[in-house]
Amino acid sequence: MTDKPTVAFAKFAAPKKGSVIVLAPEGGKFGEAARACDPADILPKVFAAADFSGKLAASVEALAPQGTDFDRLAAVGAGKTDALDEQAWLKIGGAASAAARNATEVTVVAEVAGAEASARDVALIALGIVLRSYTFDKYKTRKEENGTPKPADKAVKFTIQCADPAAAKKAFAEASAVGDGVLLARDLVNEPPNVLGPVEFAARAKELEELDVKVDILTEKEMKKLGMRALLGVAQGSVRPPRMAVMRWNGGKAKQKPVAFIGKGVVFDTGGISIKPAAGMEDMKGDMAGAATVVGLMHALAARKAKVNAVGIIGLVENMPDGNAQRPGDIVTSMSGQTIEIINTDAEGRLVLADLLWYCNEEFKPQFMVNLATLTGAILVALGNSHAGLFSNDDALAERLTAAGTVTGEKVWRMPMGKEYDKLIDTKNADMKNTGGRHAGSITAAQFLKRFVDSTPWAHLDVAGTAMASPSSEINQSWASGYGVRLLDRLVADHYER
Ligand code: BES
Ligand code: MN
Ligand code: ZN
Repeated sequence: MTDKPTVAFAKFAAPKKGSVIVLAPEGGKFGEAARACDPADILPKVFAAADFSGKLAASVEALAPQGTDFDRLAAVGAGKTDALDEQAWLKIGGAASAAARNATEVTVVAEVAGAEASARDVALIALGIVLRSYTFDKYKTRKEENGTPKPADKAVKFTIQCADPAAAKKAFAEASAVGDGVLLARDLVNEPPNVLGPVEFAARAKELEELDVKVDILTEKEMKKLGMRALLGVAQGSVRPPRMAVMRWNGGKAKQKPVAFIGKGVVFDTGGISIKPAAGMEDMKGDMAGAATVVGLMHALAARKAKVNAVGIIGLVENMPDGNAQRPGDIVTSMSGQTIEIINTDAEGRLVLADLLWYCNEEFKPQFMVNLATLTGAILVALGNSHAGLFSNDDALAERLTAAGTVTGEKVWRMPMGKEYDKLIDTKNADMKNTGGRHAGSITAAQFLKRFVDSTPWAHLDVAGTAMASPSSEINQSWASGYGVRLLDRLVADHYER
């Protein structure tokens, strides 16, 4: 991986050299600090020639600009100055990182004429830079791109000039803790499945202990003892044994009930005996994205010392076809005591989550539970890749998640639940079956989970469309998006910290 860029903050002052990036609002004028970087007034000419109007995250550049010792003077569009929200600042940072290209020393002049950038806004620019700079190239031994050699991996040094560098630095300490959580989640999802099995994934979760997170790893034997036969049924076709990780961050008051996050961690999903078609199956290395987000979130909360008690629980299994694999027709008894008839071994995520949700509720009596899972292909059909599906038994929790999604840009869309859908997973042979037929596939999956939740406020995020195979964006160029870390960190920050 290309080294993470370093970001420092400084007061406005015309830089001496390197690459300089200024911000240009749509149709507006430059501020004083930006103009000082362009003594020969080159940028306005470049704007005209390049048809640049300052649209959000657009950019243009002038090389070796007259009257300066810069390698490059670039402008990044800031869009409409009355619409500069969290996402806009992140995108400006992302575009600045892209505009810096192969430079090693970059100054960003965080001045938007007509809109003062607060310390928090400047920190968001920095976070945008960090998120955009991420690449997953550790397995590329030939460092070439488009035929041209890439420069040696070297951390780019960004300096962001702003009104109050000390305050920006402080704000960035928090933002960058969250950013590190996002990058950790992306790393885990991008990692190939031969490298990251259940045991290796659990070891990565264990590393959170460096941040004073308590991490317990449960083995197959311990899960058997707990009666987690739904989860274990999925794992039994793999030669790689399952693991469960329980992560606890205690930053809140001693008696405060924890908030809980649960993640599906299927390190590879072949479908099992109900095997998937070959085309695109490699994407199923990302079927642990829910678990990766939970690990990334726990990292974020601990790194920024969030004043909350939080539990993260992930179930790590591999779904393989094998002589010992689970069959369609099998009936398993979950930890809750409820029995499940397996109709399709490819509907495995809900089996893993069923035991995790039940365990979490029994063990921790949390304020709420939010689970994340790449659960159904059907959610891609319904929502594509711009919203995660939200299913919940609690309107207040659903509204808070929706609001956090709007602010962070990690959007959710609430889907219906109800008796009619619940009926679809009834079966003559057991308490329920693990699939509900072709129609409403994402909803029947959610109804299944709900049977393991009881009355605790709960939300299920189906992230099959948002966590992986992500379209390139201003703040992410990698296959894995790290979706959900910023969303849930915001949920906690806005409502659950003392
Ligand atoms: N992991 C898949 C869902 C998935 C599909 C995630 C595409 C990401 C991209 C899940 O385990 C699965 O196979 N679901 C089945 C359920 C069906 C058998 C009821 C599906 O969606 O087809
Ligand atoms: Mn599956
Ligand atoms: Zn799956």
